[in-house]
Amino acid sequence: MIIGKQIFHYSTIDSTNTEAKRLIASGQAAEGAVIIADAQTTGRGKPGSSWFSPPDLGLYLSAAVKPYKNQADLTNLTSVAAAAVADLIKDLTRLEAAIKLSNDILLSGKKVCGILCEHLTSGFVVIGIGLNVNHLSTSFPAELAGQATSLQIETGDVFDLTAVRQKILEQLNRHYLAYLREIC
Ligand code: BTN
Repeated sequence: MIIGKQIFHYSTIDSTNTEAKRLIASGQAAEGAVIIADAQTTGRGKPGSSWFSPPDLGLYLSAAVKPYKNQADLTNLTSVAAAAVADLIKDLTRLEAAIKLSNDILLSGKKVCGILCEHLTSGFVVIGIGLNVNHLSTSFPAELAGQATSLQIETGDVFDLTAVRQKILEQLNRHYLAYLREIC
């Protein structure tokens, strides 16, 4: 197992991707470190956008990886994360998620997950994943209404966030190891 070797868990943080970068820069996070938050105050999305990160409804995590090749090729690692999330969703809900432009995961045509991969000059890549889990349609701000969904909205079930977190780490680890085998 690589991903999840080290876990940093915060109740609230600005952004797990930003914290991952700080921990890598200070030498506290090694390859495989995972930064998890119950809420983010400034969750970051694609350039110019934010990620809605209210407490205890979604999954907000970042994994620090250091692939030995193609470190600047973020498309491949984004696809690794997207495949891991799609498998997780299938496993939890039996629903088939659609992957759009490698970093958006959709259910019923609405966004349930976003992925933000960032490359550091040290060779690390931070894979950030935001998954909407127990949101109701009324949980989202007006600007996201009609565009965002959650596992609970799609299934009517309430999910145990700790169990979902554990499963996403397993899937991410599985897909990342397969990727490393592919590029060696
Ligand atoms: C997108 O715009 O679709 C990408 C969203 C990525 C959000 C996640 S939440 C965990 C990690 N920390 C961040 O600040 N962003 C990513």
